[in-house]
Amino acid sequence: MNIENIIKNAVLSQEAYPVEETSCRIKLDANENPYPLPQFLRHMISERLKDVSLNRYPDPGSPGLRRDFARYYGVSEDMILIGNGSDELINILLTAVNPSLSGSVMFPIPTFAMYGIVALNSGHNTIEVPLNGRFGLDTDAMLDAIADKKPAIIFLSYPNNPTGRCFDRGDIERILEASSSLVVLDEAYCNFSGKTFLPDIDRWDNLVILRTLSKVGLAALRLGILIGHPVLVHQLNKIRLPYNVNIFSQVVGSLFVEYSGDFLALADRVVSGRKWLFDELMAIEGITPYPSDANFILFSCFMGKDDVYARLIDKGVLVKNFASTGILGNCMRVTVGTEEENREFIESLKSVIRGE
Ligand SMILES: Cc1ncc(COP(=O)(O)O)c(C=O)c1O
Repeated sequence: MNIENIIKNAVLSQEAYPVEETSCRIKLDANENPYPLPQFLRHMISERLKDVSLNRYPDPGSPGLRRDFARYYGVSEDMILIGNGSDELINILLTAVNPSLSGSVMFPIPTFAMYGIVALNSGHNTIEVPLNGRFGLDTDAMLDAIADKKPAIIFLSYPNNPTGRCFDRGDIERILEASSSLVVLDEAYCNFSGKTFLPDIDRWDNLVILRTLSKVGLAALRLGILIGHPVLVHQLNKIRLPYNVNIFSQVVGSLFVEYSGDFLALADRVVSGRKWLFDELMAIEGITPYPSDANFILFSCFMGKDDVYARLIDKGVLVKNFASTGILGNCMRVTVGTEEENREFIESLKSVIRGE
């Protein structure tokens, strides 16, 4: 049997999603929160986990979490769907919507890679609209593509990964008004931007918001939250696999809602670190950082970028590198780390640039 004969072309033509496995002392490549949880939260987590029934399936559909997050976000429970990370919610959305020959999934580029990868795996054609030179939306081009190709779904990362800024709110509103597609605002980094469309969720029935706990110190849980119109959530819930969220994540997710202030204090520390990191990058000749509303900073490096990346690894610092072609050809992305990690990264970068 030739196994490849039975696999979709879209899958055959892709590579597995590249996750860097280099074991570096300082890991600033994946936009994680760098701080360990406070001791009292760790203690509380172990207390709550010690009595869970491991012999039973967890609650299907995570009803407790739906209730908790509905309260937390100020919406009704039937507007909430819980996923195994927001990656799973992207997958569920793209399994649900109709594919079309002319393109059913639209997003600006560059953006979070998963929209394109999951779209292709789910049999969709994609419509990719390049950002303008200031990393903003080319709204006119997007509106033309909406009128012309009528995509079923549009993804906007808000703030955008990897460029870092939130798109202009007025541009997003124009897209929401003009389109009868679902417009998914992926607010994975909203705790670092302070900007959200959540208070407007009832204003557009095509608005869908994605949130995740991955960027606020709980990446290992794999917990994503979708907030959208009850009719949409009802349909998506048919696609969600039973027991998609394990019992540990359900228990700790509830604890997040209870102690959100303590978790979000860690995000505030990251925002202070971002400002320090930006100013330091700005002061290095040959490096241009781009302003960020997220927990990472994109920066251009005008001298042998791939070499600088490799030599940072030699010094124990891992950042995210991008392909050497296209709009990000000179770019790398660094996650804001702890104060000490940020300092070590800056010292290592300076020393690599000095040729040491
Ligand atoms: C914009 C964006 N959305 C979603 C995710 C993934 O979130 P999760 O860990 O909940 O799957 C990421 C991760 O880097 C991201 O950058």
